[in-house]
Amino acid sequence: MTPDGTTPGDSEAQQRRWRALVDERLPAAAAARPDWPVSRNHCFARILLDNACGGPWRESVAPPAWANMPPERLAVALALGEAVLEGRQDLAVLNHRSLLWRRKRPVPPPPPRLVGDGFSLRRWRLTDDAPFAALCADPEVMRFFPAPKTPRESQAEARALARRFEEDGFGPWVVEAPEGFAGFVGCWRLARPLPFGPLIGRETGLVEIGWRLARFAWGRGFAVRGARLALADVFSRCALPEVVAHTAGLNAPSRRVIERLGMTEAGAFDHPALPEGHPLRPHRLYRLAAAEFATGDVS
Ligand SMILES: CC(C)(COP(=O)(O)OP(=O)(O)OC[C@H]1O[C@@H](n2cnc3c(N)ncnc32)[C@H](O)[C@@H]1OP(=O)(O)O)[C@@H](O)C(=O)NCCC(=O)NCCS
Repeated sequence: MTPDGTTPGDSEAQQRRWRALVDERLPAAAAARPDWPVSRNHCFARILLDNACGGPWRESVAPPAWANMPPERLAVALALGEAVLEGRQDLAVLNHRSLLWRRKRPVPPPPPRLVGDGFSLRRWRLTDDAPFAALCADPEVMRFFPAPKTPRESQAEARALARRFEEDGFGPWVVEAPEGFAGFVGCWRLARPLPFGPLIGRETGLVEIGWRLARFAWGRGFAVRGARLALADVFSRCALPEVVAHTAGLNAPSRRVIERLGMTEAGAFDHPALPEGHPLRPHRLYRLAAAEFATGDVS
């Protein structure tokens, strides 16, 4: 038995499946897929291995990858390859991500909107100030925050959230419901370090996902479905390897959204901005790797 729980026989069988996938099955399928960006075995291997590693695979694995890749990561690469063959994964998206990681392609600018079923995600407008201020002044919406916000505080926050798109190339999108402005959902770089080091080994360079919706928009799936659209965008267009989320332990609705996104709990921490004994101080941290999102249900 190896330390990861597999037997040498398992590893050899997995390596044989890998060789058959990239040397035979994918190149054979490529003959009937002129839309695929690549057709050669080493290109398929690069794309699948990079996506399983969340970056250029040679940065974390010594060649040859088929022999040295940890079995659980080779299993992700295999699952991605099978999904490509079955039409559940877009090879062009996986290739784009691999080339971005290898700096062979620039990050494209954010699209003007991401379209969902019955709602869309769009960039911020100055006319969002008033409904955003109303949302942030609602004690029910803000019950898991230290306090509701004044109109001035909300306006400053809206400007800062909107600026994220210029600063990072992605940001928290406005949720546009049939009734109009409904709040925001999306990703941004952590503005200041939080004590994540003991939980995930790093505190800087992280991207988080979050949401805040007006009460009329609750229970309609805008948070979960909007978050999936935003995640698909940052994982494909921006090639982010991982996104984290954190929320007060008491915030059950937010934890529910996080769970529905398939994020993995990474542990608990005390939020440093809240005093000892404050009920919202205990927080939980979650993480989601691009490869996990890619192999999960993307419908
Ligand atoms: C956190 C918050 C965004 C969650 O909102 P929500 O309405 O519960 O989340 P969604 O919009 O994704 O809705 C999910 C629910 O809608 C339902 N739903 C309805 N139609 C749906 C659809 N087409 N697809 C998916 N879900 C749908 C789901 O059944 C789900 O309920 P369930 O989880 O009980 O099964 C909201 O409570 C909020 O804004 N809270 C205040 C701000 C806040 O705390 N932000 C987080 C700080 S960390």
